[in-house]
Amino acid sequence: MRHFLCVNDLSKKEIDTILNWATTIENGWEFCRSMNNKCISCFFAEPSTRTRFSFERAMHWLGGRIVTAADASASSSLTKGESIKDTIRTIGQYSDAIVMRHSDPEWPEIARQYSRVPVINAGSGSGEHPTQALLDLHTINQKWKTISGLKILLCGDLENGRTIHSLMKLLYLYGCEIYHCPAKINYDDSDYELSLPNKYLEEIPCTKVQIDQVNDIIKEINVIYMTRIQKERILKKFGQGDIDFFKINKNNIDLINKQAAILHPLPRNEEISEDIDDDPRADYHERQVRNGLYVRTALLDYILYNNPIYFSNGNNS
Ligand code: CP
Repeated sequence: MRHFLCVNDLSKKEIDTILNWATTIENGWEFCRSMNNKCISCFFAEPSTRTRFSFERAMHWLGGRIVTAADASASSSLTKGESIKDTIRTIGQYSDAIVMRHSDPEWPEIARQYSRVPVINAGSGSGEHPTQALLDLHTINQKWKTISGLKILLCGDLENGRTIHSLMKLLYLYGCEIYHCPAKINYDDSDYELSLPNKYLEEIPCTKVQIDQVNDIIKEINVIYMTRIQKERILKKFGQGDIDFFKINKNNIDLINKQAAILHPLPRNEEISEDIDDDPRADYHERQVRNGLYVRTALLDYILYNNPIYFSNGNNS
């Protein structure tokens, strides 16, 4: 049984296999098998549009079935005080795998300990979002035809941005040069940075760029990865502070490398102006979102059957 609770749960070889399979799926594929005897539970105790819809569509594509709770924080027995542990054990009795999102960053370790079926992390509070990282890596590779050696700039709320936490591990594994520009919040007359947590900075070399210096370096950057300020998480800590962060808009779009990819896990707030959505470098609305479907289809197939032989039509061995 394989879980996918953090990006470290898959080897580089397995990630390559899954992403090659995602490419095959995108290029038109014949189903190697039907999942009509398989069912996944989608248990989302935090809001989602892309992750839940793409997982559910992926399972339909594979011919499987789903049971789903889109607003589990309100509609499940969590509201009656049921623990995450008991919830996971219960759902596992009704399905072959669980796709779960919850605000507690520790829930994946509870799942690892207690689930008898594979669990996929679809977002763990301000912890990780490993399936988003897979599709982001895939999008970068499609755009640049390589990953190693690329310069990637991570911007926004890097403290709470779970997509960033997962992605930076993969970027390091694949040999990227990582830059980061955290947002700043002024609270009680003091500045506070929404910075990458120390546990990531201690393990992964990356270069910090101040907000007012980004325009000086963005010509050199291959991928700009923007994230929103997670107000729902920082309000608890800071109330209504003044927030400053790097933004992309008409004033600086011409400074960006002509071949660059501008990515965003979405949802987007003010960090990317809507008037650059039609720029050819803006890959967040179509390419990146669509890859969520291909990559999650490949991942579900891998997790539910764990047999890459079935993936083979020339891409993998
Ligand atoms: N990127 C992402 O996780 O989007 P959703 O919150 O809409 O699922």
